Amino acid sequence: SQPPPVSTPPMGWNSWNKFGCDINEQLIRETADAMVSSGMKAAGYQYVNVDDCWAEKNRTPDGKYEPHRTRFPSGIKALADYVHGKGLKLGIYTSAGTETCARTMPGSLDHEDADAQTFADWGVDYLKYDNCNNQGRPALERYTKMGEALKKVGRPILYALCEWGQNKPWEWGKNAGAQLWRTTGDISDTWKSMTDIIDQQVGLEAYSGPGGWNDPDMLEVGNSGMTDTEYRSHFALWSLLNAPLLAGNDLRSMSEATKKILLNKDLLAVNQDWGGKQGHKVRDDGDTEVWAKPMSDGSKVVVLFNRGGAPATVSTTAGEIGAPAASGYRVRDLWTGGETESAGTLRAGLPGHGSATFRVWPSNRPDVAPHTTLSLQSPG
Ligand code: GLA
Repeated sequence: SQPPPVSTPPMGWNSWNKFGCDINEQLIRETADAMVSSGMKAAGYQYVNVDDCWAEKNRTPDGKYEPHRTRFPSGIKALADYVHGKGLKLGIYTSAGTETCARTMPGSLDHEDADAQTFADWGVDYLKYDNCNNQGRPALERYTKMGEALKKVGRPILYALCEWGQNKPWEWGKNAGAQLWRTTGDISDTWKSMTDIIDQQVGLEAYSGPGGWNDPDMLEVGNSGMTDTEYRSHFALWSLLNAPLLAGNDLRSMSEATKKILLNKDLLAVNQDWGGKQGHKVRDDGDTEVWAKPMSDGSKVVVLFNRGGAPATVSTTAGEIGAPAASGYRVRDLWTGGETESAGTLRAGLPGHGSATFRVWPSNRPDVAPHTTLSLQSPG
């Protein structure tokens, strides 16, 4: 069978960032429920992904995975049925090594065909395939082996490489059969970690597109290590980068601010734009940056980003972000929904670690005087 078409970056949730190994079938079921009741499913979130620690330490006598007896007593097939019953999809995790990263369960190295078949039999829709305990064997060989195995199982399973960007997986991920490849090491719930990851995305935009996406790792939005201002910057940049949007928080107890971020329809439309062109850094002035992304309707999305801790004003022009010459532009603030006209200069006063995100269409309105400078205030 063919891998699932991933014409836009996958959206969903993963257990690792918030729960680590402290997972069980009830949590996963309640998360699926919350994905529906919170409006996330309606907004496009689809995958409910179980990360490390779902299996017993040893394989069964016939060499198969055994779901953890106390955490997943009903088994993974029953869990997949439950998640499918909600109109959602189930993801699972293992490593291209002898054990997973948490070392609580076996990896799939040299068991690729049998394990891929097991996942398919269980109704799994997504496999995150990690890199720990790989015995020093070449990444390309290990990841291609699983990619080939997944193609044979008669069920479309999205294949996400988690090789941490060590061997430039953006260059060979697609050939290994993958639709996603992690570009960096693990994110943690800090400003430093999140911004370090952003820095590592510069120049990778050429490798991402419909069918195969760069993955700067899962979201930390709502996990409380950063402020809501910082989480808005995190989410705006992940949307602009066409990152998979995998929420990493507890969906059962989200604040209103967290929901507003994860459910921002204008930003989700940026991430899910059918043309699939990843955004990129346009300008860097030390603490302030301008990032832009071309949209399929000819508009441009721009993130004005203040990395510094002190307030700053950041500006750009329609020309700098690649918008065609026009006498005027329609500008939408993607956090407030407010719209205004601009002659071509965009400017935002931003708090420390804040950002403003605008979508800009040429409007050629005759009533906009040339050289008018418009200031838009985003909530940061
Ligand atoms: C690695 C991955 C993480 C997570 C853990 C689980 O560190 O990069 O995303 O899956 O393993 O142990």
